[in-house]
Amino acid sequence: MSRILYIKASPRGERSYSISVADAFIASYKTSNPQDEIITINLFKKDLKYLISRLQEHLGNIKEGYDQLYSEVAKNETIFHTDVRNNEHVSSDSVDLIVTSPSYPNMTDYVKSQRLSYYWLGIPISSANNDLISEIGARRKRQSKDALKKYLEDMQICIKILSSKVREGGFVCFVMPLFGRNDLKRKRIIHKVMSELERLFVKEKEFERIIPAVRRAHNIKWATLEREKIFVFRK
Ligand SMILES: C[S@@+](CC[C@H](N)C(=O)[O-])C[C@H]1O[C@@H](n2cnc3c(N)ncnc32)[C@H](O)[C@@H]1O
Repeated sequence: MSRILYIKASPRGERSYSISVADAFIASYKTSNPQDEIITINLFKKDLKYLISRLQEHLGNIKEGYDQLYSEVAKNETIFHTDVRNNEHVSSDSVDLIVTSPSYPNMTDYVKSQRLSYYWLGIPISSANNDLISEIGARRKRQSKDALKKYLEDMQICIKILSSKVREGGFVCFVMPLFGRNDLKRKRIIHKVMSELERLFVKEKEFERIIPAVRRAHNIKWATLEREKIFVFRK
């Protein structure tokens, strides 16, 4: 008799392709080797249990830290909830560092994807919702012939405004999508957005990262974007 150790380690559970293949293999193996023992360990569930017990252990400290952080933020920091193209709030040449992950072209309906947060905040997502009206690159506008052109114009305006806010020698950290050869139209548009950044700033550093499938979309078929780049520019 043999003993088989079957280790599962995917957070996707039932939705994992590799687990479905492995399950099918184990089922067929059991039929042809009924005498063998199969031990299954689900590492993800084990790790999750461990993580939750650690969180519970430290929850008291975390809460205290966060309460302090939020009360300091409320006292000392200012949050503007506005269209980034609204040029009124921040004075020119006053900012040391901007960190932004801007909208990607025709990728997501950001406001709708946050509808539960809006519901929780008591803000209706009606056609009068300003965030919805001013949303750059929204997926729902992708059928419009000039959607990509409009995205580029909006991003060029944003970059000009951001540049005017940063002091000489200040930094901008920008996250940008990396479209492949199968998406040439969006690749070209992002290239033009980058040209605008490079016209106004000096590139200091860039990092590439793979976006984990679970972060990209609930349905893997929609998760077309696999990579992003993070750029650090100096004015
Ligand atoms: C890629 S998401 C990044 C979100 C956030 N920075 C984060 O990392 O979780 C882009 C964000 O830009 C917001 N956005 C779209 N158009 C905007 C506009 N005109 N002014 C300000 N924010 C806008 C979207 O609502 C969305 O939250």
